[in-house]
Amino acid sequence: MRADLTPRDARDRMIVPLDFASVDEAEKMVATLGDAASFYKIGMQLVFAGGLPLISQLVAEGKRIFLDMKLLDIDNTIAGGVDSIARLGVTFTTIHAYPKAMRAAVETLRRAEQHSAGLGLLAVTVLTSMEDDDVHAAGYAQPAAELVTTRAADARRAGMDGIVCSPLEIAAVRNIVGPDMAIVTPGIRPAGAAADDQKRIMTPTDAIKAGANYLVIGRPITAADDPAAAARAVMNEIETAA
Ligand code: C5P
Repeated sequence: MRADLTPRDARDRMIVPLDFASVDEAEKMVATLGDAASFYKIGMQLVFAGGLPLISQLVAEGKRIFLDMKLLDIDNTIAGGVDSIARLGVTFTTIHAYPKAMRAAVETLRRAEQHSAGLGLLAVTVLTSMEDDDVHAAGYAQPAAELVTTRAADARRAGMDGIVCSPLEIAAVRNIVGPDMAIVTPGIRPAGAAADDQKRIMTPTDAIKAGANYLVIGRPITAADDPAAAARAVMNEIETAA
């Protein structure tokens, strides 16, 4: 059984990253946002600061979790990692788009259906921090944009559930993966918001219209004077654009 990637409502299409150094700060942000957010992304910073119990707590409260661990390892280790992640009850996790690693992850979930039905596997094609020079320095002949499309096709072939990509890649990736795979996009900035360190940005409206299913949007919400109000404004924008 494939994961059910359908958002429950427009709120579910907005994923707020809990990019904090302590569980305490993350819990405060979740409390501040209350009903204004239903989907959180948790990455290595919070996990390595003791954040795993917070994942279970949020899942028990009905929140959805994107556990962004960007896995890459030998097949056996990927299989064990994905199996453990599936048991946490999270909705998404990420694997670097290497065909062998993706196949190992997909195969693991197929074998372990009872406890893995809810987990969606997202492929990270090329990190958006990588320019062409960085891709060449890493040993690849193709320009970054070409490698994104090659790896999106690999992800589809491997049976992955979705792709993480920059807003500017949504249309090209959608063309390759078709309508059924989820596209999850960071680099989202409401009109007039600070870009921070993001280089390739898009508004929520434009990203939804370009074909994104889920938007990861952090500092415009978490660093706002009123995070709940900022989250509601983004949610309204998504609802209107959808
Ligand atoms: O605060 P901001 O909206 O820039 O946060 C975006 C989130 O998405 C961060 O957690 C960041 O690590 C993540 N991300 C990203 N670009 C990628 C992959 C992940 O911004 N290519």
